[in-house]
Amino acid sequence: MNDVAHEKILILDFGSQYTQLIARRVRESKVYCEIHRFDIGLDKIREFSPRGIILSGGPSYVTDENAPMVSKEVYDLGVPLLGICYGMQLTTHLFGGEVCKADHREYGAARLACDTGAELFFGLDESQEVWMSHGDRIDREPEGFAVIAHTANAPVAAIKHLTKPVYGIQFHPEVAHTPQGTEMLENFLFRICKVAGDWTMRSFIQEKLESIREEVGNANVVCGLSGGVDSSVTAKLVHEAVGDRLTCIFVDNGLLRQGEAEKVMSSYADHFQMKVIKVDAATHFLDKLKGITDPQEKRKIIGPAFVDIFIEEAKKIPNVKFLAQGTLYPDVIESVSFAGPSAVIKTHHNLELGDLLNMDLIEPLRELFKDEARALGEELGIPHDMVWRHPFPGPGLAIRILGDVTERKLSVLRLADAIILEEFKKSDYYKEVWQAFGVLLPVKSVGVMGDERTYENVLALRAVTSRDAMTANFAPIPYELLTTISNRVIGEVRGINRVVYDITSKPPGTIEWE
Ligand code: XMP
Repeated sequence: MNDVAHEKILILDFGSQYTQLIARRVRESKVYCEIHRFDIGLDKIREFSPRGIILSGGPSYVTDENAPMVSKEVYDLGVPLLGICYGMQLTTHLFGGEVCKADHREYGAARLACDTGAELFFGLDESQEVWMSHGDRIDREPEGFAVIAHTANAPVAAIKHLTKPVYGIQFHPEVAHTPQGTEMLENFLFRICKVAGDWTMRSFIQEKLESIREEVGNANVVCGLSGGVDSSVTAKLVHEAVGDRLTCIFVDNGLLRQGEAEKVMSSYADHFQMKVIKVDAATHFLDKLKGITDPQEKRKIIGPAFVDIFIEEAKKIPNVKFLAQGTLYPDVIESVSFAGPSAVIKTHHNLELGDLLNMDLIEPLRELFKDEARALGEELGIPHDMVWRHPFPGPGLAIRILGDVTERKLSVLRLADAIILEEFKKSDYYKEVWQAFGVLLPVKSVGVMGDERTYENVLALRAVTSRDAMTANFAPIPYELLTTISNRVIGEVRGINRVVYDITSKPPGTIEWE
């Protein structure tokens, strides 16, 4: 566990879909917190030395035989504790209250009557809306606890221990449907745990710089720069810590957007004065991709080719002991609900590169959510448009050219893509969407330009809104923007004579076309 803050809140995860949201809310209140599995054990909890503990909700029934539990000793650590939903049911169960399986889940808004004399509800309305989502219900509070709130359906909707700073609430304060939820969490943090709430990006940077310096010592560090947010912020932070002992490797695979390679070099090498080795590998990648049309085949070629080139370059640098990577918090949370296949795959990939190079990993962003990494980037002085850029896939334009990839198709798509981005930025819709891009289709259609008949390719315009790319909706962008992009692409890009807008959401579609 990392020492990244002097005041930390520990969130024990019982598998709720909202666990990450609890963490977001706590951090938004400028208090550092980490999510760990419910079963990390007392020693780890003591070592973490939390100022407060939050037990999350979860899908289990506390009365089931294999229900996830914590040791009752957690309540004797002298650390304030808040049980949310399942966390409250568990508290009730452990202290001898009565938890019964309800006939049906209570799900939705409820009106809460609360005792504003309790610290948790200090300064709040006596009657307010809260969001319920639970199966078990509590019929009788545990001994030694007082009921401090109820709803029409839940006579015991919140409890407080009579002498210890231990609380339980049946509803979810972390969701937007509980309008005073943030105030409740802040009452827990500031009035009950009595933390200061001074965790900022500046303090995070200071702590990180010291720990990177200490870990790296006199060794050298290598970092792969892709132009994306995570690797850029990682590189800049490590550079602030160890200066010229960091070397970045930027592989130009020829599948990047227009002006991308130049932008990376001018920002990082010229402006920030970082050591960046640029590898011009466009021909290498294009040769390997010749005639390949299958999307997975393309990925299987591009991924390993990148790894080979990266390793070859990294081995040329003397005394390198560390590989810096931009892994983010959602990739590493070992929680009950989030250790899904994708987390496993990413970790595996990271380990692979570190292992192949026999280097230790430095992952300075591994405690941060994406928008915190962006805030960190801004704080480090990385240009705004680099920090807020849309995600761009590793295989680049190769998976946005359906069919085989050629130099000519790449230059056609690059021009169209540049127009799309320019117009999205001009209209301010760039920040409204998750991604916006063009897909070059291997389909030709007839058109007419002036007196001439044309027979050229179709470009599909894709723009989606999304929170995390797991699901997405096609973006309802205005007709004016569609018109401008269509007119400009057809007028300015030779090789495209028709533009269509993709109105598929995910699921059932995916964001990319390949
Ligand atoms: P899909 O198309 O699966 O995309 O809905 C979800 C998100 O992932 C990006 N994406 C990739 N990123 N390598 C990457 O680094 C890939 O092979 C890849 N495929 C998709 C995509 O741009 C979107 O943000």
